[in-house]
Amino acid sequence: MKVLIFPQPEAAVRRTADLLMDQVRRAPRSVLGLATGGTMEPVYAEILARRDRPSFAGVQSFNLDEYVGLAPEHPQSYHRYMAQHLFDGLDMPATQAHLPRGDAPLAHLEASEYDARIRAAGRIDLQLLGLGANGHIGFNEPGSSLGSRTRVKTLTRKTLEDNARFFGPDEEVPRYAITMGIETIMEARQIVLLALGPGKAAAVRGMIEGAVSTYCPASILQFHKNATIVIDEAAAADLTLRDYFEEVHPGGAEVLV
Ligand code: F6R
Repeated sequence: MKVLIFPQPEAAVRRTADLLMDQVRRAPRSVLGLATGGTMEPVYAEILARRDRPSFAGVQSFNLDEYVGLAPEHPQSYHRYMAQHLFDGLDMPATQAHLPRGDAPLAHLEASEYDARIRAAGRIDLQLLGLGANGHIGFNEPGSSLGSRTRVKTLTRKTLEDNARFFGPDEEVPRYAITMGIETIMEARQIVLLALGPGKAAAVRGMIEGAVSTYCPASILQFHKNATIVIDEAAAADLTLRDYFEEVHPGGAEVLV
């Protein structure tokens, strides 16, 4: 794991956006795995604001997840999130942007078909991830099989509470989501995980320094050969090896030895 600790969250966001754009510059026909959530909003805003942004016309994308029961037009669906925060500002054709259909009549079937579509596209070149305060990646909640494929997951109370901020006071957060599985995520050639703020510090510690276990699904990334963890100082606060990571990558820089 490469652990990059940035003094400020803004610099961590810029680095994440740069890693994604570098991938597209290197390989204009890249297959990207994308995430939603509060952490990704400034990343997508940064990409859209950049004048040196590469063309995304040849890119294909697969999002990690979608709420079961929400149609693409629903204001809180991840389809809408992606349109608002990224896709509407890119030159990527809509047909090349994939998300699971939350309103599919048979969610389980939709999940396995989505997994097959990812496989058919070849491996994901770069998978962007956020981190749940409970250690989830995608919606692979604690207890998820480390060998799981895309499927329907029941969200934990913690995740429902964390995500309630995106919904109105009278709206209920959907209890189920279709999510890429942990094995599906691990097949990506490169993984970039961004976690910011003190609310993520415990999960960051579990992911980087804890035992690999279903209790902290993100800990599986310890087995990935090309995973970059981008964090700010607040999210790094609980790391025992923090000094070492900061010595290897001063200020989050990737120093070539
Ligand atoms: C979103 C996703 C989730 C979020 C995570 C962090 O597609 O799969 O794993 O990345 O819940 O969410 P925020 O960024 O809102 O704290």
